[in-house]
Amino acid sequence: MQAEPTIGFIGAGNMATALIGGLVDRVRDPERVVVFDPDTDKTDRLRKRCCVQIAGDNAQILRSSDVVVIAVKPQVMRDVLLPLRPAMPEAPPLIVSVAAGIRIASIEKWLDRRLGVTRVMPNTPSLVGAGASGLYANDLVSADQRELAETLMQSVGIATWVDDEQQLDTVTGIAGSGPAYFMLFMEAMVEAAAARGLDKDTAHKLVVQTCRGAAELAGHGPESLAQLRINVTSPGGTTERALETMKADGADEIIRNAVYAAADRAEELANTLAEE
Ligand SMILES: NC(=O)c1ccc[n+]([C@@H]2O[C@H](COP(=O)([O-])OP(=O)(O)OC[C@H]3O[C@@H](n4cnc5c(N)ncnc54)[C@H](OP(=O)(O)O)[C@@H]3O)[C@@H](O)[C@H]2O)c1
Repeated sequence: MQAEPTIGFIGAGNMATALIGGLVDRVRDPERVVVFDPDTDKTDRLRKRCCVQIAGDNAQILRSSDVVVIAVKPQVMRDVLLPLRPAMPEAPPLIVSVAAGIRIASIEKWLDRRLGVTRVMPNTPSLVGAGASGLYANDLVSADQRELAETLMQSVGIATWVDDEQQLDTVTGIAGSGPAYFMLFMEAMVEAAAARGLDKDTAHKLVVQTCRGAAELAGHGPESLAQLRINVTSPGGTTERALETMKADGADEIIRNAVYAAADRAEELANTLAEE
């Protein structure tokens, strides 16, 4: 029987910790997960909590792993990759980058070779196992490697592929930045209820559960989002009045503009990081 692949992590921060937690809880043997981070407090915590292996440096991760997940901040990516050039094995591992805004071309440039790279745009709910990630793989990633990358991201939520790397900017506009839009929406609802005299904690509980419930309903059945909206909109009722008010205030346009603005900014940031 073929051995399970070894998954290496460069960086042991929030995202790596979420991914490793998801992996060892659900699918992988911790012996086959290896991590390096200069902050040994973080790696010690991971070793104690998840029984993973700790590497001495990033070069060891590169040499000992079938998949290398790069989970460092985008600003340090270049400095992390450049010294790894001489350590790259003859048959390179699959590189999975979760760094926002770092293009595959930059990764290949910094590693000084063409190799299989999967770029992932995850979001913060991944930290509680409810993430939504977009994935893009270049042409050197095999079907088996794609499956591996997908399994990795599914350990912290849902994972879905895009055919064009640029579409990861759109994924950023809806899923990467999306949680903040819903936070803003919920904050405004809580404030409105509080302004009408409802206890703030009560309003908070009701609003968060309503958001969760709407998402559950939307993800549950075959009905479209529009149909689910119509189902709760009785003619002449309260919801109809609220939705008419939102439309009149330009809600559709506000949301579309926000998604476009985030996606444009993602592209802008990627251009800046690519220049390094
Ligand atoms: N958190 C999220 O929800 C989220 C969402 C979408 C995308 N992402 C992406 O995920 C990546 C990681 O984000 P994060 O929130 O997990 O950041 P983080 O908590 O700061 O983790 C990054 C880790 O990398 C370590 N590091 C720095 N230099 C290193 C090196 N040379 N070798 C190995 N490790 C090194 C950092 O150590 P020090 O702290 O000591 O520098 C830190 O522990 C980012 O690129 C971000 O764009 C995160």
